[in-house]
Amino acid sequence: MNFSFGQGNNYVQDYTKFQNLALTPPMGWNSWNKFACNVNEEMIREMADAMVATGMKDAGYSFINIDDCWHGDRDSLGFIHPDSARFPSGIKALADYVHSKGLKLGIYSDAGSQTCGGRPGSRGYEFQDALMYAKWGVDYLKYDWCNTEGLKAEGAYKTITAAMKNAGKPIVLSICEWGTDSPWVWGQNVGHLWRTTGDIYNCFDCIEDHGTWKSFGVMQILDKQEGLRKYAGPGHWNDPDMLEIGNGALNEGEDRAHFTMWAMIAAPLIAGNDLRTMTPEVKAVLTNKNVIGINQDSLGVQGYKLNTTLAKGVDVWFKPLVNNEWAVCFLNRSVKDQKVQLNWASLDNIDSLSNKHFATKTTKYTGANLWKKDNVVSTSKALDVVVPAHDVLVYRFKKN
Ligand code: GLA
Repeated sequence: MNFSFGQGNNYVQDYTKFQNLALTPPMGWNSWNKFACNVNEEMIREMADAMVATGMKDAGYSFINIDDCWHGDRDSLGFIHPDSARFPSGIKALADYVHSKGLKLGIYSDAGSQTCGGRPGSRGYEFQDALMYAKWGVDYLKYDWCNTEGLKAEGAYKTITAAMKNAGKPIVLSICEWGTDSPWVWGQNVGHLWRTTGDIYNCFDCIEDHGTWKSFGVMQILDKQEGLRKYAGPGHWNDPDMLEIGNGALNEGEDRAHFTMWAMIAAPLIAGNDLRTMTPEVKAVLTNKNVIGINQDSLGVQGYKLNTTLAKGVDVWFKPLVNNEWAVCFLNRSVKDQKVQLNWASLDNIDSLSNKHFATKTTKYTGANLWKKDNVVSTSKALDVVVPAHDVLVYRFKKN
């Protein structure tokens, strides 16, 4: 006979995420970077329309994510409802609309008592909130970390995961815990992506001090990814926060560099600009299918910086791709254009994580410039190029 005493509890919860939902980094749009708390259903519907009309959907973007401040109050039973002035038709109708466009809807909550914007958080209501999201047909949840006094991150995120499993509707979980408690260590089976840093700030190279907290420019966020690539892979991604492309502070080269570097490090590509009014230049950056192809590569290996010295302020990054192809990116962080002259053999290297070899000492490769049509380089000829200030040159190499 088998006596199991335990604690008298034979109900086992499933704390693991829904599988196979993010085999490549999620791509979509989120309201926060541009609109902060100013969200409403009309704008979200228009953003879904624009996602289709601009070619973003065709380029691979699928999520329309409402960030903070959609919330109204809880009812007498504790169920959450949207702000009825901003979302008079309700979230279910909005999800239906977004789905009718072939897109998916994302929503936002917080593990604490209140969201960062002071709306009702999910603490103590996790299972009810998950039931509502499932009922509404929500496909993606960004789950924030404000007002979480006394909570432990891993347990709190496992609770919302169990709640969503219980609700039964497959949903992507975006762990937004800012990297404070090393979510890359425990997040792989709990969520599909985890923020690695505090919030991005709309600048290329700066830190913004808000007093009690700081936000970080594109280059600062990039630097904070060091050491984390081994935790990423199909189904579970490091999230260096959403894109600031098209939000006015970055010039075209900086937009390109931001987008390319997020592609190189297999980051989720979540646009944060107004898709309804973006310029042709911004649209061209966000919909560059060559660069997106690097990000969405099915090998799912996050890129790395090679420890080498090139021109002043220029780094070279590598990302192994399927079929032994490679993305190689020169990033000019300096404020001056820089000449890069090298023999490709000097960049021969083996990635210790994937064991892939960029074998330029023994093999010839041809590389297509991913931002410039019909511009091809061969590793059998020395490279002699100018990388413009705050910009990139990125090539996709295959063996000859
Ligand atoms: C935090 C998150 C941001 C955004 C805001 C909303 O700062 O990190 O991405 O969701 O909260 O209030």
